Amino acid sequence: MLISDQYNRAFKTLRVSLLSKCNLSCVYCTMGEDEVKENNIQQHPVSAEVLLKQVRQLHDVLQLETIRLTGGEPLLYHELIPLIKGIREMRIEKIKLTSNGFLLERLALPLKEAGLQSVNVSLDAVEEDIFFLMSKRNDVQRILNGIDAAISAGLQVKINAVVMKGINENQIIPLLAFAFERNIRIRFLEIMAMGYLHDNADRYLFTQEEILNTIRQQFNVKKIERATASTANYWKTADGKVFGIIANESEPFCHDCNRLRLDSSGNIYGCLSSNHPIALSQDDNEAALISKLQQAMAQKQAVKFTGSELSMLHIGG
Ligand code: 5AD
Repeated sequence: MLISDQYNRAFKTLRVSLLSKCNLSCVYCTMGEDEVKENNIQQHPVSAEVLLKQVRQLHDVLQLETIRLTGGEPLLYHELIPLIKGIREMRIEKIKLTSNGFLLERLALPLKEAGLQSVNVSLDAVEEDIFFLMSKRNDVQRILNGIDAAISAGLQVKINAVVMKGINENQIIPLLAFAFERNIRIRFLEIMAMGYLHDNADRYLFTQEEILNTIRQQFNVKKIERATASTANYWKTADGKVFGIIANESEPFCHDCNRLRLDSSGNIYGCLSSNHPIALSQDDNEAALISKLQQAMAQKQAVKFTGSELSMLHIGG
């Protein structure tokens, strides 16, 4: 059964938030110290067994191509290795992960061995003091080591760097240099109006054009054509290095979005802009599930992400 809409969008990628807990307190996810702590009190973490049942239920109807594990921070999830093994057994073609990389150095190899193929590491600074401003944690070197361990383990590695005006735009070139040295993809993200930024993301917005202008001061760049359902626009430098920009605000990509989201409480969402959870149940028969998926499909935006009060801490991007 193909669930699709008038734009021909179908659900091919499932993003699963494993827990709403994180070991960093990045400015775009968190509000103030106290609320961070409150956010970080985890209910009962969902078991891998339950998650696998939900993924299988969805996969049976949707024939998923890609699954991406997120959080919170997915490396804090205790049953991550058995979960990945279980997903591999379902024969979903691509298994990926989005992580802040803080615990990656130790886990890269076991994750690869369990069947993980690729990891996107969120890294908004390479200089310690700016990293602290963004994440309220010290020791960015741990993440850099984690990235190198992932490359050595044979994982495909990408870097996601959120750029916030007035905080870390001076990290664009150092981050680019870090990625270019290792020949890995880096994508810069415009800030999105998520969570507590819902009504005031604009003041932190450093646009695609501003990011490009910053890079053009050092490199000659040429645009590459965008692939279907890609969140990023890509450019190439004169010596063939590639980088991307996820321009959620200046150049939205809703029109061919193929993502479905599942949170750690068993709710699905068709769009990051929607904070209307649709609860799955183990008892859903195929017809009930299809109807829920159609509801989720209807949440997709026609043109543009309109923001949400949900933080990525809950739904994982
Ligand atoms: N705007 C843009 N990117 C965000 N992320 C988390 N919150 C926001 C936001 N408000 C990023 C994370 C991660 C990716 C999934 O989304 O840093 O790299």
